[in-house]
Amino acid sequence: MSDIITKLCEQRDLPDTTLRQLINTNKYDEELFQAADKVRRERYGDAVYLRGLIEFTNFCKNDCLYCGLRAENRNVSRYRLTKDEILSCCEEGYLLGYRTFVLQGGEDPYFTDERMVDIISAIRGRFSDCAITLSLGERSRESYERFYEAGANRYLLRHETADEEHYQKLHPDNMLLENRKRCLFDLKEIGYQVGSGFMVGSPYQTTDSLIADLRFLQELSPDMIGIGPFIPHHDTPFKNCEGGTVELTLRMIAILRLLFPYALIPSTTALGTIDPQGREKGLKAGANVVMPNLSPVAVRKKYEIYDDKICTGEESARCRGCLERRIELAGYRAVTDRGDVKRIHNS
Ligand code: 5AD
Ligand code: FES
Repeated sequence: MSDIITKLCEQRDLPDTTLRQLINTNKYDEELFQAADKVRRERYGDAVYLRGLIEFTNFCKNDCLYCGLRAENRNVSRYRLTKDEILSCCEEGYLLGYRTFVLQGGEDPYFTDERMVDIISAIRGRFSDCAITLSLGERSRESYERFYEAGANRYLLRHETADEEHYQKLHPDNMLLENRKRCLFDLKEIGYQVGSGFMVGSPYQTTDSLIADLRFLQELSPDMIGIGPFIPHHDTPFKNCEGGTVELTLRMIAILRLLFPYALIPSTTALGTIDPQGREKGLKAGANVVMPNLSPVAVRKKYEIYDDKICTGEESARCRGCLERRIELAGYRAVTDRGDVKRIHNS
């Protein structure tokens, strides 16, 4: 093994200059993926955890420049699922074997704390052996506390980029990296298993901003880390920008696995969108989670964060079967338990 990879495996870290080299070349990729797969197997075996994703609202008050669901995009047909529809999705997911439900949505003011608490409590009451993961953006600490008390266990909130200047280029002025970080640390303190992450190849991203992402994640020490390639959406200001590549995304997944051996890392739908074998490649580069879509087929097309998103026409049961086959063909095993994080002495 080359020195640089040996060092990364032993120290679970590298100085900035070496990280920069590693990020900027494909020279070490094969070694990197092998080392990442080894570390992942040592900690998690061949398990790939399934999370049922319920996209319950595509309303959003924000205007992130990269996202197809941004408020200014008038071409989106907006929808909200009712509490009963959300519960039916969970029911269907439970029968398919899922023991984690991820409630994901835009920042939709309709879902007040009261409404969310009502939904979370209902899921908690009916599915006591399941983990409830929320992904609804920035809220007050008090809201996060109320959701936790109602039975939510995990929260996904990507920091998107840890480079302040870069953050301002991706978001309108009223969104601040500082607040996003505040949310993440609040969530952790409250007791959630926390997921963060970033896009690969977003407009204006540099190698240094990727390094800043890794350093921020080291500071946060999240349980889950989600990354995926940026994919331009035709109705956003970034419609003519280049997208992120499979190659760099896989390299970043492998680096993350080696820096954070304990982490739950999804092989994302975005990766599957830019390459038909993308999710399989992600698993082989160190990812150990997939998030099949559980949203009603009637609304799936409407949750178009980026162009050409996959799995928008398939019934949930078909996605389940499809993913299980893909996972097995890649050399892993689909697992349907809660799949909590496996930390040893907090690392
Ligand atoms: N391409 C890829 N990923 C995107 N996201 C938002 N817009 C895009 C896009 N155009 C990611 C963000 C967000 C997550 C739900 O989806 O990182 O946190
Ligand atoms: Fe949805 Fe393959 S995972 S169709």
